[in-house]
Order: sequence, then C-alpha cells, then structure tokens
Amino acid sequence: MKILGIESSCDETAASVIADDNGRICVLSNIIASQIKEHTLYGGVVPEIAARSHVEKIDIVIKEALSKAGVSLDEIDGIAATSGPGLIGGVMVGLLSAKALCVGTGLPLLAVNHLEGHALSPRLSEKVDFPYLLLLVSGGHCQILKVEDVGQYQRLGTTIDDALGECFDKVAKILGLGYPGGPLVEAAAKFGDEKRFELPRPLIGRAGCDFSFAGLKTAVLRLVEKLCENGEKLKTQDINDICASFQNTITKVLINRLANAFAMSGLKSADCRLVLAGGVAANQFIREKLIEYCTQNSWQFFAPEMRFCGDNGAMIALVGLEKLKIGDIAPIDIAPRPRWPLDQNSDPIAIKNGWGKKGAKS
Ligand code: KG4
Ligand code: ZN
Repeated sequence: MKILGIESSCDETAASVIADDNGRICVLSNIIASQIKEHTLYGGVVPEIAARSHVEKIDIVIKEALSKAGVSLDEIDGIAATSGPGLIGGVMVGLLSAKALCVGTGLPLLAVNHLEGHALSPRLSEKVDFPYLLLLVSGGHCQILKVEDVGQYQRLGTTIDDALGECFDKVAKILGLGYPGGPLVEAAAKFGDEKRFELPRPLIGRAGCDFSFAGLKTAVLRLVEKLCENGEKLKTQDINDICASFQNTITKVLINRLANAFAMSGLKSADCRLVLAGGVAANQFIREKLIEYCTQNSWQFFAPEMRFCGDNGAMIALVGLEKLKIGDIAPIDIAPRPRWPLDQNSDPIAIKNGWGKKGAKS
C-alpha cells in the first residue's frame, strides 16, 4: 500500500509518499518547504502569510513528493492530509488540495489529526510497541499522553500557558537570537555554563504532570533586564550561559513531570516506554538527559529520526495508512478544525482552570 501525506498546519508545506511493505514502512519521499525566511522578519509565524505561502507551494511540493518517490497518482492507495489542529488558513489549503485530488482520482480521503502524526512519528523508522507514554513537545503544544494503541490516547497532563517550543522561541527573541528559537538556543547553550543562573522550575514538586512555562520566560526577561541595568549590552558569554541554564532547567522540569506521569499512567514496568516527539524532540541536550533518566529507571526511550521531529508529510501519511487499514475514510465534506484534542475526553484546560489558552494547536 502507498499513501500520499500532506501537511500544512503551521509554517512548513510538506508532502510525502510512504509504502507499507508487509508491515515494514518505507519513506519513499519526504519533501518539506519551510517558510522560515518569510516569517523571520516578524519574529514568529504570521498566519495570513503562512496561508498564502501554502497556496503558492502546495501543488509544487505534492508533485515533487510523487516524482521523488517515482510513483504516479494511479499507484497511490489513499490521500492523507492534516485536518487540524493548526492555523486554519494553512489547514484549509492542505485539506482542500487533498480533497481535490480525491475527487479527481476517486481515491479515499484520510483526515489526520496533526498531533497523532507526531504521536506515531518514531514508528516511521523503528518498531515501538504499545502502550507507551508520549511527551509531545512542539511549537503549539506540550502534553503527556498515555498511548494505548493507534487512535487511543489519554491525556495525563498539558501546559497551562505556553507550549515548550513557544517558550524556546520567546527566550530566543528576548536574547535577540532570531527565529525559530529552539535550534539557536540549543546552539548557544553548547558554549554556556548551565550552573551560572538559577532559574525558577515551574510546578516541580507539585502533584500531577501539567506544565507551566510563562513564569520561566518572564524570569529570563527579568534576568536580561538586570544584566543590562547600567545600559550595558548582553555579552555573548551571558547569552550562552542563559541558554544553558534555561535548557538545564527545562530538562529538570520535564523529568519531574514524567516521573509523576509514569506513576499516574498505571503502566507496568514491562511497558515503561517513553516516546519523545514534536519539534523540540530535535534538541540533543534534552534527548540525552531523557535517555540518561530512562536508562537509570529501566525505561525504554524512543524518538523520531531528526527529519521526522518537525512537521512533515511522512508522519501524516503513516496515520493515514493506519486509518485506511481500518476503513476510517473521511467524508469529502469534512471540515478543517483549528482545535482538535487528541484525547477527545480531555476538557480544554482553559475551562478546567479558568485561564486563557494560548497556542494555535493547544
Ligand atoms: O513540530 P513543529 O515543527 O511545529 C509545530 O507543530 O508546532 O515544532 C516547532 C517548534 C518551534 O517552537 C521550534 O523552536 C522548536 O520546535 N524546535 C526546537 C528545536 N528545533 C525545533 N526546540 C528546541 N531545540 C531544538 N533543537
Ligand atoms: Zn507539529
């Protein structure tokens, strides 16, 4: 079986063809057109610019994915597209393109939840048994879920304010590093002293496994203001030390929350698997620290290959494949969704806690 996967929920226009060869997944192509240059000037993703850019690139990217895979549409068995959650203009572009192709070819439409793509992304490269605990950390979301099987997700914790990738991006902005901030903070941290600055560790020691990053971001802002008090400019070493201290603090928070999540999950020791996924999963420092922690606790650790950490069409195609196998075909008039929780039973935390909700994909 071969599936074409289309992704356009944020700032990457992406398409991929994957093949299922008797249970072995082969990624035949994985084309990603990044919009970073278009948004850099504004220091973040501008939804209207993103949507227009998707319109300009989507057909080219799909064509390239098919030609790189060496297949024509006749050889495809289903077309998967991100149908939410995400920036609605972008989601509409990808989903409508998929619908048009389905109408033209008669192929089944597979409507995919973007978060489910991240949740299954390590399975593009290796076998990961169910159940597992999923730490989903990205630009728009930060959640811990128990994954029982394909389509069975129970949210154990989520952020009550900023997503983790968003926090990396904001800290990078405060430090004048540029956009997107995650990779730039990671690069600067390599030359920094992680012990120089003591930063708050939000929610550490509290019950549950929710996250909060807004206070940490503000603490970095106050620290920068203090260092620049006498009109001085931040030195490169200061920036590196702040990045290292910030990343170290983040890792301690993640480990504390994961320890609680494992206890809450009811997973037996034989099933203690951790999957790290989403854009922030590309961070090598976080990966190494989580691997260290998992090894100490006899948990197995999995993360997607680097090329499948950020948004991509292959992970969307993989979910589409699973849907096609069980006959979960979408009606052609299915609507794109700006919000779509993976765990359908989880209350939006905004309602639960009475706080404002941020992040397009939360
Ligand atoms: O999954 P993704 O590509 O898009 C969303 O679905 O949001 O994630 C993008 C986020 C951005 O906030 C980016 O700064 C962050 O992932 N990111 C990183 C790294 N690479 C990307 N954060 C920390 N360290 C990295 N190396
Ligand atoms: Zn994503």
